[in-house]
Amino acid sequence: MTFRSTFARVVSHWLLVDLAEALSLRETSPALLHSEADIEPTNQALHSRPERHRTYRRVAEGESVEVEQHLEAYRKAGQLLGQAQNMYHSGHILRFVMSHPEAPVLPPGGCLYLPNDGVWASFYQHVEHPFPDLFAEMIANSYYPSCNETSLSGLRLPASCGDRTMRGSRGCFEVSSLGSATGIQVFETTGHVGLPGKWSYHIENARPHQLRHAKESDASPARCGMSHELPEVPAAKRLEIPTRYVVCRRSDADDSITEDMVREQNRWANEAFRGASPWERMGFDKGRPVSVDMQISFQLVNISIVTNADCAKYGFTDTARLYEYNKDSSKYFTVVIITNDASGVLGQTEFPFDIPEDSPDHMVIVSSVGFRHFASHQADAVGVTMHSSLMYDEGDTVVHETGHGLGLYHTFERGCSNGAVSEGGTQASWRSSFAGSRGDMVDDTNSEKLPHYDCAVDMSCGEVDPVHNFMDYSPDSCMMGFTEGQKRRAWCVLENHRHGLYEMSLKE
Ligand SMILES: *[C@@H]1O[C@H](CO)[C@@H](O)[C@H](O)[C@H]1NC(C)=O
Ligand SMILES: *[C@@H]1O[C@H](CO)[C@@H](O)[C@H](O)[C@H]1NC(C)=O
Repeated sequence: MTFRSTFARVVSHWLLVDLAEALSLRETSPALLHSEADIEPTNQALHSRPERHRTYRRVAEGESVEVEQHLEAYRKAGQLLGQAQNMYHSGHILRFVMSHPEAPVLPPGGCLYLPNDGVWASFYQHVEHPFPDLFAEMIANSYYPSCNETSLSGLRLPASCGDRTMRGSRGCFEVSSLGSATGIQVFETTGHVGLPGKWSYHIENARPHQLRHAKESDASPARCGMSHELPEVPAAKRLEIPTRYVVCRRSDADDSITEDMVREQNRWANEAFRGASPWERMGFDKGRPVSVDMQISFQLVNISIVTNADCAKYGFTDTARLYEYNKDSSKYFTVVIITNDASGVLGQTEFPFDIPEDSPDHMVIVSSVGFRHFASHQADAVGVTMHSSLMYDEGDTVVHETGHGLGLYHTFERGCSNGAVSEGGTQASWRSSFAGSRGDMVDDTNSEKLPHYDCAVDMSCGEVDPVHNFMDYSPDSCMMGFTEGQKRRAWCVLENHRHGLYEMSLKE
Protein backbone atom coordinates (compact mmCIF):
# COMPACT_ATOMS: atom_id res chain seq x y z
CA MET A 1 0.00 0.00 0.00
CA THR A 2 1.13 3.53 -0.69
CA PHE A 3 1.62 6.39 1.71
CA ARG A 4 -1.81 7.65 0.72
CA SER A 5 -3.65 4.99 2.64
CA THR A 6 -1.53 5.75 5.69
CA PHE A 7 -2.55 9.35 5.30
CA ALA A 8 -6.18 8.34 5.00
CA ARG A 9 -5.88 6.37 8.25
CA VAL A 10 -4.42 9.35 10.08
CA VAL A 11 -7.23 11.47 8.75
CA SER A 12 -9.90 9.04 9.81
CA HIS A 13 -8.32 8.90 13.24
CA TRP A 14 -8.72 12.65 13.57
CA LEU A 15 -12.25 12.37 12.37
CA LEU A 16 -13.05 9.71 14.92
CA VAL A 17 -11.64 11.79 17.74
CA ASP A 18 -13.78 14.67 16.57
CA LEU A 19 -16.79 12.51 16.03
CA ALA A 20 -16.70 11.15 19.56
CA GLU A 21 -17.05 14.72 20.71
CA ALA A 22 -19.66 15.59 18.14
CA LEU A 23 -21.83 12.71 19.27
CA SER A 24 -22.80 14.49 22.42
CA LEU A 25 -26.16 16.12 21.94
CA ARG A 26 -26.10 19.70 20.78
CA GLU A 27 -29.31 21.57 21.09
CA THR A 28 -30.23 25.01 19.88
CA SER A 29 -32.97 26.89 21.58
CA PRO A 30 -35.85 27.60 19.17
CA ALA A 31 -35.53 31.23 20.26
CA LEU A 32 -32.26 31.42 18.33
CA LEU A 33 -33.76 30.47 15.02
CA HIS A 34 -33.75 32.94 12.21
CA SER A 35 -36.86 34.29 10.62
CA GLU A 36 -37.00 35.35 7.01
CA ALA A 37 -36.62 38.97 7.93
CA ASP A 38 -33.11 38.26 9.18
CA ILE A 39 -31.82 37.13 5.83
CA GLU A 40 -29.32 39.66 4.54
CA PRO A 41 -28.00 39.62 1.02
CA THR A 42 -24.65 37.90 0.88
CA ASN A 43 -22.18 40.71 1.35
CA GLN A 44 -18.62 39.79 0.55
CA ALA A 45 -15.83 41.88 1.94
CA LEU A 46 -13.96 43.63 -0.85
CA HIS A 47 -10.76 41.68 -0.54
CA SER A 48 -7.92 42.24 -2.90
CA ARG A 49 -6.67 38.84 -3.88
CA PRO A 50 -2.96 38.46 -4.45
CA GLU A 51 -1.68 36.41 -7.40
CA ARG A 52 -0.43 33.77 -5.06
CA HIS A 53 -1.89 33.03 -1.73
CA ARG A 54 0.49 33.32 1.16
CA THR A 55 1.36 29.87 2.44
CA TYR A 56 0.33 28.97 5.93
CA ARG A 57 0.76 25.95 8.10
CA ARG A 58 -1.89 23.29 7.82
CA VAL A 59 -2.79 20.80 10.47
CA ALA A 60 -1.70 17.90 8.24
CA GLU A 61 1.87 19.20 8.47
CA GLY A 62 1.82 19.64 12.23
CA GLU A 63 3.50 17.63 14.96
CA SER A 64 1.20 16.03 17.49
CA VAL A 65 1.73 18.88 19.98
CA GLU A 66 0.83 21.39 17.32
CA VAL A 67 -2.24 19.39 16.33
CA GLU A 68 -3.32 19.43 19.97
CA GLN A 69 -2.87 23.21 20.20
CA HIS A 70 -4.69 23.62 16.95
CA LEU A 71 -7.66 21.60 18.17
CA GLU A 72 -7.69 23.59 21.39
CA ALA A 73 -7.78 26.92 19.52
CA TYR A 74 -10.64 25.73 17.34
CA ARG A 75 -12.53 24.25 20.26
CA LYS A 76 -12.30 27.47 22.29
CA ALA A 77 -13.32 29.65 19.37
CA GLY A 78 -16.19 27.22 18.81
CA GLN A 79 -17.31 27.68 22.42
CA LEU A 80 -17.52 31.44 21.90
CA LEU A 81 -19.65 30.86 18.84
CA GLY A 82 -21.82 28.45 20.78
CA GLN A 83 -22.64 31.15 23.33
CA ALA A 84 -23.59 33.71 20.69
CA GLN A 85 -27.19 34.23 19.65
CA ASN A 86 -27.01 33.56 15.93
CA MET A 87 -23.64 32.01 15.15
CA TYR A 88 -24.97 28.45 15.07
CA HIS A 89 -23.84 27.64 11.53
CA SER A 90 -20.41 29.25 11.78
CA GLY A 91 -19.88 27.07 14.85
CA HIS A 92 -20.84 24.05 12.78
CA ILE A 93 -18.44 25.05 9.99
CA LEU A 94 -15.60 25.60 12.43
CA ARG A 95 -16.15 22.12 13.88
CA PHE A 96 -16.19 20.69 10.38
CA VAL A 97 -12.91 22.39 9.50
CA MET A 98 -11.08 21.60 12.72
CA SER A 99 -10.59 17.94 11.91
CA HIS A 100 -9.72 18.59 8.27
CA PRO A 101 -6.06 18.04 7.30
CA GLU A 102 -6.16 21.24 5.22
CA ALA A 103 -7.34 23.24 8.25
CA PRO A 104 -5.04 26.19 8.85
CA VAL A 105 -3.16 26.33 12.13
CA LEU A 106 -4.30 29.58 13.75
CA PRO A 107 -1.40 31.37 15.45
CA PRO A 108 -2.52 33.20 18.61
CA GLY A 109 -3.00 36.95 18.58
CA GLY A 110 -5.28 37.24 15.58
CA CYS A 111 -8.84 38.10 14.64
CA LEU A 112 -11.35 35.61 13.22
CA TYR A 113 -14.34 37.02 11.30
CA LEU A 114 -17.31 34.73 10.83
CA PRO A 115 -20.79 35.44 9.44
CA ASN A 116 -24.03 35.03 11.37
CA ASP A 117 -26.86 32.65 10.48
CA GLY A 118 -28.78 35.17 8.39
CA VAL A 119 -25.76 35.61 6.16
CA TRP A 120 -25.42 31.85 5.79
CA ALA A 121 -29.10 31.51 4.86
CA SER A 122 -28.45 34.05 2.12
CA PHE A 123 -25.30 32.23 1.03
CA TYR A 124 -27.25 29.01 0.46
CA GLN A 125 -29.63 30.84 -1.83
CA HIS A 126 -26.69 31.68 -4.04
CA VAL A 127 -24.53 28.59 -3.78
CA GLU A 128 -26.22 25.21 -4.04
CA HIS A 129 -24.24 22.37 -2.46
CA PRO A 130 -20.87 24.06 -1.82
CA PHE A 131 -17.85 21.75 -1.95
CA PRO A 132 -16.99 21.45 1.77
CA ASP A 133 -13.21 21.24 1.28
CA LEU A 134 -13.33 24.97 0.61
CA PHE A 135 -14.45 25.74 4.16
CA ALA A 136 -10.81 25.24 5.22
CA GLU A 137 -9.78 27.94 2.77
CA MET A 138 -12.57 30.12 4.10
CA ILE A 139 -11.16 29.94 7.62
CA ALA A 140 -7.68 30.89 6.36
CA ASN A 141 -9.22 33.83 4.50
CA SER A 142 -11.16 34.88 7.60
CA TYR A 143 -8.29 34.82 10.05
CA TYR A 144 -6.13 37.94 10.42
CA PRO A 145 -2.96 37.24 12.41
CA SER A 146 -2.03 40.39 14.38
CA CYS A 147 -5.49 41.68 13.45
CA ASN A 148 -4.01 43.86 10.70
CA GLU A 149 -5.22 44.07 7.13
CA THR A 150 -3.65 40.86 5.80
CA SER A 151 -5.31 37.48 6.30
CA LEU A 152 -3.50 34.23 6.98
CA SER A 153 -3.91 33.35 3.30
CA GLY A 154 -2.68 36.75 2.09
CA LEU A 155 -5.99 38.42 1.25
CA ARG A 156 -5.99 42.14 1.93
CA LEU A 157 -8.87 44.19 3.20
CA PRO A 158 -8.89 47.77 1.98
CA ALA A 159 -9.78 50.56 4.40
CA SER A 160 -13.02 49.84 6.16
CA CYS A 161 -16.09 52.03 6.23
CA GLY A 162 -15.43 53.11 9.77
CA ASP A 163 -15.57 51.78 13.26
CA ARG A 164 -16.88 48.21 13.64
CA THR A 165 -17.73 47.92 9.97
CA MET A 166 -16.25 46.44 6.82
CA ARG A 167 -16.82 47.31 3.23
CA GLY A 168 -18.47 44.64 1.17
CA SER A 169 -19.89 44.23 -2.31
CA ARG A 170 -23.22 45.71 -1.14
CA GLY A 171 -21.97 48.51 1.06
CA CYS A 172 -20.77 48.43 4.62
CA PHE A 173 -21.63 45.67 7.02
CA GLU A 174 -21.34 45.33 10.76
CA VAL A 175 -18.62 43.56 12.68
CA SER A 176 -18.98 42.92 16.40
CA SER A 177 -16.70 41.16 18.85
CA LEU A 178 -17.82 37.98 20.59
CA GLY A 179 -14.79 37.97 22.88
CA SER A 180 -11.49 36.15 22.78
CA ALA A 181 -10.24 32.64 23.46
CA THR A 182 -6.68 31.23 23.45
CA GLY A 183 -5.52 34.59 22.10
CA ILE A 184 -7.96 34.60 19.22
CA GLN A 185 -10.54 37.34 18.97
CA VAL A 186 -13.75 36.15 17.36
CA PHE A 187 -16.08 38.50 15.50
CA GLU A 188 -19.63 38.17 14.21
CA THR A 189 -20.14 39.77 10.81
CA THR A 190 -23.29 40.59 8.87
CA GLY A 191 -21.58 39.86 5.56
CA HIS A 192 -19.08 37.30 4.30
CA VAL A 193 -15.44 38.17 4.97
CA GLY A 194 -13.47 35.15 3.82
CA LEU A 195 -15.32 33.56 0.93
CA PRO A 196 -13.05 31.35 -1.18
CA GLY A 197 -12.38 32.69 -4.66
CA LYS A 198 -14.46 29.99 -6.35
CA TRP A 199 -17.58 30.81 -4.36
CA SER A 200 -17.15 34.55 -4.90
CA TYR A 201 -16.87 33.85 -8.59
CA HIS A 202 -20.02 31.75 -8.48
CA ILE A 203 -22.03 34.33 -6.54
CA GLU A 204 -21.05 37.04 -8.99
CA ASN A 205 -21.85 34.98 -12.06
CA ALA A 206 -24.71 32.58 -11.33
CA ARG A 207 -28.38 33.38 -11.02
CA PRO A 208 -29.56 33.12 -7.43
CA HIS A 209 -31.53 29.92 -7.37
CA GLN A 210 -34.06 30.01 -4.61
CA LEU A 211 -34.64 33.75 -4.66
CA ARG A 212 -35.85 33.32 -8.19
CA HIS A 213 -38.33 30.56 -7.56
CA ALA A 214 -39.63 32.26 -4.44
CA LYS A 215 -40.49 35.27 -6.58
CA GLU A 216 -42.16 33.29 -9.34
CA SER A 217 -44.19 31.16 -7.00
CA ASP A 218 -47.06 33.62 -6.63
CA ALA A 219 -48.27 32.99 -10.14
CA SER A 220 -47.27 29.37 -10.51
CA PRO A 221 -49.82 26.54 -10.62
CA ALA A 222 -50.08 23.80 -8.03
CA ARG A 223 -46.74 22.71 -6.71
CA CYS A 224 -48.31 19.61 -5.23
CA GLY A 225 -48.77 21.13 -1.78
CA MET A 226 -48.02 19.40 1.48
CA SER A 227 -47.14 15.74 1.26
CA HIS A 228 -49.94 14.59 3.58
CA GLU A 229 -52.44 15.84 1.00
CA LEU A 230 -50.92 13.67 -1.71
CA PRO A 231 -52.16 10.17 -2.55
CA GLU A 232 -50.20 7.06 -1.77
CA VAL A 233 -48.30 5.64 -4.76
CA PRO A 234 -49.99 2.32 -5.73
CA ALA A 235 -47.68 -0.63 -5.07
CA ALA A 236 -47.96 -1.90 -8.64
CA LYS A 237 -46.79 1.35 -10.24
CA ARG A 238 -43.19 2.13 -11.06
CA LEU A 239 -41.35 4.86 -12.89
CA GLU A 240 -38.49 3.67 -15.08
CA ILE A 241 -37.04 6.94 -16.27
CA PRO A 242 -34.94 7.03 -19.46
CA THR A 243 -31.71 8.60 -18.30
CA ARG A 244 -28.66 9.84 -20.12
CA TYR A 245 -25.31 10.91 -18.76
CA VAL A 246 -23.02 13.44 -20.39
CA VAL A 247 -19.44 13.78 -19.23
CA CYS A 248 -18.15 17.22 -20.13
CA ARG A 249 -14.40 16.98 -19.84
CA ARG A 250 -11.66 19.54 -20.17
CA SER A 251 -9.52 17.72 -22.75
CA ASP A 252 -9.31 14.48 -24.69
CA ALA A 253 -6.68 13.31 -22.25
CA ASP A 254 -9.02 13.74 -19.28
CA ASP A 255 -10.23 10.27 -18.29
CA SER A 256 -11.22 11.15 -14.74
CA ILE A 257 -14.76 9.88 -15.40
CA THR A 258 -15.10 6.69 -17.43
CA GLU A 259 -18.14 4.93 -18.87
CA ASP A 260 -17.76 2.19 -16.30
CA MET A 261 -17.89 4.79 -13.53
CA VAL A 262 -21.07 6.20 -15.04
CA ARG A 263 -22.72 2.76 -15.03
CA GLU A 264 -21.62 2.20 -11.46
CA GLN A 265 -22.93 5.62 -10.40
CA ASN A 266 -26.29 4.89 -11.98
CA ARG A 267 -26.49 1.51 -10.28
CA TRP A 268 -25.75 3.22 -6.97
CA ALA A 269 -28.48 5.82 -7.54
CA ASN A 270 -30.96 3.05 -8.34
CA GLU A 271 -30.13 1.31 -5.07
CA ALA A 272 -30.68 4.58 -3.23
CA PHE A 273 -34.07 5.12 -4.87
CA ARG A 274 -35.02 1.52 -4.06
CA GLY A 275 -34.39 2.27 -0.38
CA ALA A 276 -31.46 -0.15 -0.33
CA SER A 277 -28.49 2.11 0.42
CA PRO A 278 -26.05 0.57 2.87
CA TRP A 279 -26.42 1.74 6.44
CA GLU A 280 -23.27 2.73 8.28
CA ARG A 281 -24.51 2.58 11.81
CA MET A 282 -23.82 5.64 13.95
CA GLY A 283 -23.56 5.48 17.72
CA PHE A 284 -26.76 7.46 18.06
CA ASP A 285 -28.87 5.36 15.67
CA LYS A 286 -31.60 3.45 17.41
CA GLY A 287 -32.45 1.46 14.31
CA ARG A 288 -32.18 1.65 10.55
CA PRO A 289 -33.07 5.19 9.48
CA VAL A 290 -36.02 5.63 7.13
CA SER A 291 -35.31 4.68 3.54
CA VAL A 292 -38.43 3.94 1.51
CA ASP A 293 -38.62 2.33 -1.92
CA MET A 294 -39.41 5.33 -4.12
CA GLN A 295 -40.67 2.99 -6.90
CA ILE A 296 -38.44 4.99 -9.24
CA SER A 297 -35.46 3.78 -11.22
CA PHE A 298 -33.21 5.26 -13.88
CA GLN A 299 -32.77 3.34 -17.12
CA LEU A 300 -29.39 4.25 -18.52
CA VAL A 301 -30.07 4.81 -22.23
CA ASN A 302 -27.06 6.86 -23.33
CA ILE A 303 -23.61 7.93 -22.21
CA SER A 304 -21.67 10.62 -24.06
CA ILE A 305 -18.21 11.70 -23.13
CA VAL A 306 -17.48 15.02 -24.82
CA THR A 307 -14.53 17.39 -24.76
CA ASN A 308 -15.54 20.98 -24.16
CA ALA A 309 -13.29 23.02 -21.88
CA ASP A 310 -15.88 25.79 -21.34
CA CYS A 311 -18.65 23.44 -20.41
CA ALA A 312 -16.29 21.49 -18.13
CA LYS A 313 -15.35 24.67 -16.30
CA TYR A 314 -18.33 27.03 -16.33
CA GLY A 315 -21.24 24.58 -16.38
CA PHE A 316 -22.67 25.77 -13.06
CA THR A 317 -22.65 29.50 -13.76
CA ASP A 318 -23.57 29.36 -17.42
CA THR A 319 -25.82 26.39 -18.00
CA ALA A 320 -26.37 27.44 -21.63
CA ARG A 321 -22.95 25.96 -22.35
CA LEU A 322 -24.52 22.56 -21.65
CA TYR A 323 -27.65 22.90 -23.79
CA GLU A 324 -26.21 21.29 -26.90
CA TYR A 325 -25.93 18.07 -24.90
CA ASN A 326 -29.49 18.24 -23.64
CA LYS A 327 -31.54 18.23 -26.85
CA ASP A 328 -35.01 16.69 -26.53
CA SER A 329 -34.81 17.41 -22.84
CA SER A 330 -38.44 16.45 -22.29
CA LYS A 331 -37.69 12.85 -23.28
CA TYR A 332 -34.78 12.20 -20.95
CA PHE A 333 -33.59 12.68 -17.45
CA THR A 334 -30.13 14.16 -18.08
CA VAL A 335 -27.15 14.11 -15.74
CA VAL A 336 -24.14 16.21 -16.77
CA ILE A 337 -20.78 15.74 -15.06
CA ILE A 338 -18.30 18.59 -15.37
CA THR A 339 -14.67 17.81 -14.64
CA ASN A 340 -13.01 21.20 -14.13
CA ASP A 341 -15.52 23.16 -12.07
CA ALA A 342 -14.73 26.84 -11.46
CA SER A 343 -17.56 27.34 -8.93
CA GLY A 344 -16.57 25.15 -5.98
CA VAL A 345 -19.96 23.46 -6.08
CA LEU A 346 -20.78 19.74 -5.85
CA GLY A 347 -24.04 19.86 -7.74
CA GLN A 348 -26.88 22.05 -8.99
CA THR A 349 -30.32 21.28 -10.40
CA GLU A 350 -33.42 23.22 -11.43
CA PHE A 351 -36.76 22.30 -9.91
CA PRO A 352 -39.15 20.91 -12.55
CA PHE A 353 -41.84 23.45 -11.55
CA ASP A 354 -39.59 26.45 -12.14
CA ILE A 355 -39.07 25.97 -15.87
CA PRO A 356 -41.15 24.94 -18.89
CA GLU A 357 -41.42 21.25 -19.65
CA ASP A 358 -39.24 21.48 -22.76
CA SER A 359 -36.52 23.65 -21.19
CA PRO A 360 -32.93 22.49 -21.73
CA ASP A 361 -32.33 23.46 -18.11
CA HIS A 362 -33.95 20.22 -16.96
CA MET A 363 -30.70 18.59 -15.97
CA VAL A 364 -28.74 17.47 -12.98
CA ILE A 365 -25.28 19.02 -13.04
CA VAL A 366 -22.60 17.54 -10.81
CA SER A 367 -18.94 18.23 -10.42
CA SER A 368 -16.67 15.24 -10.89
CA VAL A 369 -15.51 15.66 -7.26
CA GLY A 370 -19.00 14.59 -6.17
CA PHE A 371 -19.18 11.64 -8.56
CA ARG A 372 -19.02 8.04 -7.40
CA HIS A 373 -15.43 6.77 -7.17
CA PHE A 374 -13.90 9.94 -8.63
CA ALA A 375 -11.70 10.63 -5.59
CA SER A 376 -10.63 7.02 -5.15
CA HIS A 377 -9.99 6.71 -8.91
CA GLN A 378 -7.81 9.86 -8.78
CA ALA A 379 -5.96 8.48 -5.79
CA ASP A 380 -5.12 5.34 -7.74
CA ALA A 381 -4.33 7.06 -11.03
CA VAL A 382 -2.62 10.27 -10.06
CA GLY A 383 -1.64 9.80 -6.47
CA VAL A 384 -3.57 12.70 -5.00
CA THR A 385 -6.23 12.28 -2.40
CA MET A 386 -8.40 15.10 -1.26
CA HIS A 387 -9.58 14.30 2.19
CA SER A 388 -13.10 15.50 2.10
CA SER A 389 -13.75 14.51 -1.47
CA LEU A 390 -13.43 10.96 -0.17
CA MET A 391 -16.40 11.90 1.97
CA TYR A 392 -18.30 12.39 -1.30
CA ASP A 393 -16.93 9.34 -3.08
CA GLU A 394 -19.95 7.04 -2.71
CA GLY A 395 -22.10 8.81 -5.27
CA ASP A 396 -24.79 10.42 -3.12
CA THR A 397 -24.30 13.83 -4.73
CA VAL A 398 -26.06 12.49 -7.82
CA VAL A 399 -28.82 11.04 -5.62
CA HIS A 400 -29.29 14.38 -3.82
CA GLU A 401 -29.36 16.39 -7.05
CA THR A 402 -31.70 13.88 -8.67
CA GLY A 403 -33.98 14.48 -5.69
CA HIS A 404 -34.11 18.16 -6.72
CA GLY A 405 -34.70 17.10 -10.31
CA LEU A 406 -37.85 15.33 -9.05
CA GLY A 407 -38.97 18.40 -7.10
CA LEU A 408 -37.62 17.69 -3.62
CA TYR A 409 -36.42 20.60 -1.51
CA HIS A 410 -33.61 20.53 1.01
CA THR A 411 -34.57 19.33 4.46
CA PHE A 412 -33.31 22.71 5.68
CA GLU A 413 -35.45 24.68 3.22
CA ARG A 414 -36.80 27.79 5.00
CA GLY A 415 -34.94 26.77 8.15
CA CYS A 416 -37.27 26.09 11.07
CA SER A 417 -40.19 27.63 9.22
CA ASN A 418 -42.97 25.39 10.44
CA GLY A 419 -45.63 27.15 12.41
CA ALA A 420 -46.81 30.72 12.39
CA VAL A 421 -46.32 32.55 9.12
CA SER A 422 -47.43 36.12 8.70
CA GLU A 423 -49.41 37.32 5.73
CA GLY A 424 -48.62 40.30 3.57
CA GLY A 425 -45.53 41.41 1.76
CA THR A 426 -44.34 40.39 -1.65
CA GLN A 427 -44.15 36.71 -0.85
CA ALA A 428 -47.58 36.38 0.71
CA SER A 429 -48.88 33.44 -1.25
CA TRP A 430 -45.59 31.61 -1.17
CA ARG A 431 -45.52 32.09 2.55
CA SER A 432 -49.11 31.13 3.16
CA SER A 433 -48.51 27.91 1.26
CA PHE A 434 -46.11 27.11 4.08
CA ALA A 435 -48.48 28.09 6.87
CA GLY A 436 -48.40 25.51 9.61
CA SER A 437 -46.21 23.34 7.48
CA ARG A 438 -42.64 22.44 6.86
CA GLY A 439 -40.31 24.35 4.59
CA ASP A 440 -39.68 21.35 2.36
CA MET A 441 -43.42 20.64 1.96
CA VAL A 442 -42.86 17.17 3.38
CA ASP A 443 -44.46 16.26 6.72
CA ASP A 444 -42.29 13.33 7.70
CA THR A 445 -38.86 14.97 7.42
CA ASN A 446 -37.90 16.92 10.52
CA SER A 447 -37.08 20.60 10.05
CA GLU A 448 -33.55 21.84 10.53
CA LYS A 449 -32.15 25.30 10.62
CA LEU A 450 -29.22 25.01 8.22
CA PRO A 451 -27.40 22.13 6.50
CA HIS A 452 -25.13 19.62 8.22
CA TYR A 453 -21.69 18.61 7.00
CA ASP A 454 -21.19 16.03 9.71
CA CYS A 455 -23.15 13.07 10.98
CA ALA A 456 -24.22 13.82 14.52
CA VAL A 457 -27.26 14.29 16.68
CA ASP A 458 -28.34 17.88 16.56
CA MET A 459 -31.69 19.51 17.31
CA SER A 460 -31.56 22.84 15.56
CA CYS A 461 -35.34 23.20 15.38
CA GLY A 462 -36.23 21.34 18.57
CA GLU A 463 -36.45 17.90 16.93
CA VAL A 464 -33.68 15.60 15.72
CA ASP A 465 -32.14 16.97 12.54
CA PRO A 466 -32.56 14.67 9.51
CA VAL A 467 -28.87 14.05 8.78
CA HIS A 468 -29.61 10.61 7.28
CA ASN A 469 -31.89 12.06 4.63
CA PHE A 470 -30.55 12.42 1.09
CA MET A 471 -31.74 16.03 0.98
CA ASP A 472 -29.34 17.29 3.67
CA TYR A 473 -25.61 17.98 2.97
CA SER A 474 -24.21 15.36 5.33
CA PRO A 475 -21.35 13.09 4.17
CA ASP A 476 -22.19 10.15 1.90
CA SER A 477 -21.59 7.67 4.68
CA CYS A 478 -24.41 9.35 6.58
CA MET A 479 -27.14 10.07 4.03
CA MET A 480 -29.10 6.98 3.10
CA GLY A 481 -32.81 7.47 2.59
CA PHE A 482 -35.91 9.22 1.37
CA THR A 483 -39.21 9.28 3.25
CA GLU A 484 -42.76 8.36 2.29
CA GLY A 485 -43.67 12.05 2.04
CA GLN A 486 -40.74 12.72 -0.30
CA LYS A 487 -41.84 9.81 -2.46
CA ARG A 488 -45.38 11.15 -2.84
CA ARG A 489 -44.01 14.60 -3.62
CA ALA A 490 -41.55 13.31 -6.25
CA TRP A 491 -44.32 11.36 -8.01
CA CYS A 492 -46.67 14.32 -7.93
CA VAL A 493 -44.09 16.81 -9.22
CA LEU A 494 -43.02 14.55 -12.05
CA GLU A 495 -46.61 13.83 -13.09
CA ASN A 496 -47.57 17.51 -13.08
CA HIS A 497 -44.45 19.25 -14.26
CA ARG A 498 -42.68 16.73 -16.51
CA HIS A 499 -45.75 15.00 -17.74
CA GLY A 500 -44.29 13.66 -20.98
CA LEU A 501 -41.40 12.03 -19.21
CA TYR A 502 -43.78 10.68 -16.56
CA GLU A 503 -45.96 9.02 -19.18
CA MET A 504 -42.96 7.49 -20.93
CA SER A 505 -41.64 6.16 -17.63
CA LEU A 506 -44.79 4.77 -16.06
CA LYS A 507 -45.02 0.97 -15.71
CA GLU A 508 -48.11 -0.64 -14.20
C1 LIG B 1 0.62 42.38 9.62
O1 LIG B 1 0.96 41.26 10.44
C2 LIG B 1 1.97 40.41 9.90
C3 LIG B 1 2.17 39.28 10.88
O2 LIG B 1 1.06 38.50 10.99
C4 LIG B 1 3.25 41.18 9.67
O3 LIG B 1 4.20 40.32 9.06
C5 LIG B 1 2.97 42.36 8.76
O4 LIG B 1 4.14 43.15 8.64
C6 LIG B 1 1.84 43.24 9.34
N1 LIG B 1 1.53 44.28 8.40
C7 LIG B 1 1.34 45.55 8.78
C8 LIG B 1 1.08 46.53 7.68
O5 LIG B 1 1.37 45.90 9.92
C1 LIG C 1 -26.00 9.33 -27.23
O1 LIG C 1 -24.59 9.30 -27.09
C2 LIG C 1 -23.87 9.58 -28.28
C3 LIG C 1 -22.40 9.46 -27.99
O2 LIG C 1 -22.13 8.28 -27.31
C4 LIG C 1 -24.19 10.95 -28.79
O3 LIG C 1 -23.53 11.18 -30.02
C5 LIG C 1 -25.69 11.10 -28.97
O4 LIG C 1 -26.01 12.43 -29.30
C6 LIG C 1 -26.43 10.70 -27.71
N1 LIG C 1 -27.85 10.71 -27.94
C7 LIG C 1 -28.70 11.38 -27.21
C8 LIG C 1 -30.11 11.27 -27.61
O5 LIG C 1 -28.38 12.05 -26.24
